[in-house]
Amino acid sequence: MIPHSDILKGAEKYMRVRKNDVHIPISYSYAMKLTESYPEADKDVVGAAIILHDIGWYSIDEDDIFKKGFQSKNFMKSDVRYLHESEGMRLGAEVLKELGYDEEFIEKVCYIIDGHDTRDFARSLEDKIVRDADKLWRFTVTGVSVACDWFKQTPSTYCNRLETDIIPLLDLPESKEMATADLAETRTTLCTDIL
Ligand SMILES: [Fe+2]
Ligand SMILES: [Fe+2]
Repeated sequence: MIPHSDILKGAEKYMRVRKNDVHIPISYSYAMKLTESYPEADKDVVGAAIILHDIGWYSIDEDDIFKKGFQSKNFMKSDVRYLHESEGMRLGAEVLKELGYDEEFIEKVCYIIDGHDTRDFARSLEDKIVRDADKLWRFTVTGVSVACDWFKQTPSTYCNRLETDIIPLLDLPESKEMATADLAETRTTLCTDIL
């Protein structure tokens, strides 16, 4: 199997938007951490899917990404959300094909990218890991500082939202544990009880 570093490199040209070049490496490390608790999961599929799931944002105007995809009413079902998923499948398949992956592997990865934000259920264990890792990066200091700007909130308000809205969406018990521990650390570091 081709190493994940080659997929990262292959996707690099699509990653310089929406801080994907920060989100993706951090979420990738959470995904790999979760596979340690689930050795039966296909690590190659998980790795490729988490690296490629958001590269479709590349095809969308950056102003639209934030206004429609993050700050609008019902933003999780906005047009740009669906578009970044379909574009992610198209570009992701292109990256994997160039690296020599076969159709079967590409289909497995696209099956996870498809609807990763707009579906409210996971399709497989690999999908559960990817979906949770996609959210877990936000609990870090880096995740809070990047994402609170996307939603135009203070770090403290955003931390509260992570606790009330995002932790309940996590599928795996290991993810909930990591999220809770990371959030406590992030709150302490950012002095959210004061600021
Ligand atoms: Fe996404
Ligand atoms: Fe993501």
